[in-house]
Amino acid sequence: MSGVNKNIVILISGSGSNMAAIVETARTQRWQARFGARVAAVLSNKAAAQGLAWAREQGIETAALDHTAYASREAFDAALMVEIDRHDPALVVLAGFMRILTPGFVAHYEGRLVNIHPSLLPAFAGLKTHQRAIEMGCRFAGATVHRVTSELDHGEILAQAVVPVLPGDTPELLAARVLTQEHVIYPRAVERLLGAA
Ligand code: GAR
Repeated sequence: MSGVNKNIVILISGSGSNMAAIVETARTQRWQARFGARVAAVLSNKAAAQGLAWAREQGIETAALDHTAYASREAFDAALMVEIDRHDPALVVLAGFMRILTPGFVAHYEGRLVNIHPSLLPAFAGLKTHQRAIEMGCRFAGATVHRVTSELDHGEILAQAVVPVLPGDTPELLAARVLTQEHVIYPRAVERLLGAA
């Protein structure tokens, strides 16, 4: 990660609670003063994503690009890359961004692209992770922060958090327990990357 100004661009599709945790940690841990880092923009493929409104209230630049308005995955990713690159990002942080990315997009941000996935990878890549963990009788579940490669939910593991699966758990209960830990490990992992640069 080079340069004095390390811009972080965060991509979301929904509530954006991981994004909010990162924005708040950036403030409380003084990322600007310590690393020259700031969350420059929050982008979404859904204009109605709750997290966008929250980010705007924080004074962060936001933009929404509706993926259904593009003829192909490649066309959407190309437009998204233009929007992201306006901020010359040192890090692109996927935080509940529910889109499969094209190899061209992943290659463009190689070394700068991270994601959080709600399972203990390499177990349960893909969707419905909590339901699958409960159905398999797992005693533990969790979340993984990882670098993004063109293979879905693979790439170097940067951080993990483990929570118990409790008797009577539903996917919703387990998801909420995992999410509280996501809010701990994701900001920390991003901070470590900023510090290592
Ligand atoms: C989080 O649990 C995140 O791990 C998951 O979506 C949720 C987003 O919540 N991501 C994925 O499933 C990616 N495949 P948030 O919008 O409140 O951060």
